[in-house]
Amino acid sequence: MEFFVDTADVDEVRRAEDYGFLDGVTTNPSLVADSGRELEDVVLDICEMVEGPVSVEVTATETEGMLEEGRRYAEWADNVIIKVPLTPDGVRACNRLTDDGIGVNVTLCFSPNQALLAARAGATYISPFVGRLDDIGHPGMESVETIVDIYDNYDHIETEVLAASIRHPRHVTKAALADADVATVPFDVIEQMFQHPKTDLGLESFLDDWNDAQ
Ligand code: G3P
Repeated sequence: MEFFVDTADVDEVRRAEDYGFLDGVTTNPSLVADSGRELEDVVLDICEMVEGPVSVEVTATETEGMLEEGRRYAEWADNVIIKVPLTPDGVRACNRLTDDGIGVNVTLCFSPNQALLAARAGATYISPFVGRLDDIGHPGMESVETIVDIYDNYDHIETEVLAASIRHPRHVTKAALADADVATVPFDVIEQMFQHPKTDLGLESFLDDWNDAQ
């Protein structure tokens, strides 16, 4: 499973990249707004730091507006891919951006049927939102599992399943068990993934024994 970081904070991207396992970045309008910076400045900084795909989401809601934004954003850097929402207009835009040779991440996916439509539209990635389904008492990861199973039935489907709306390390484990192609993980969750008290205690014990023997 590949790891993307879900952030528009360039310092978080830099720190995640520094670990050596970062495969890409996903942003969204809320994350960019939180950064307090202009979209283009954020995207150019991130695209400078990582080689993998950087998802940049359109804010238009009509197909033509999505196409104008997507084609413009895709010009900013070779590793920009365009995020469109899973709406009829978004799926139409996905089809046409894909025909332009532009990578598309179809986002705000909450059902396998939506994922089927995105795959038929040639999406590069589909982003099922796990946490937001969990938030309303639905089994979010089951959606990922079902989408992976459906896609695996058809050799011609090349759309990659990008588990999104990850809330905690357990979601990452479950996404890997579900055979998701990618998990896009908030930086604080990446940091939590390193943590285990037995590791800390074990390291302390090794060093104590080593130092006692000097
Ligand atoms: O950026 C897409 C997705 O990962 C955001 O999820 O629910 O944390 O806003 P959420």
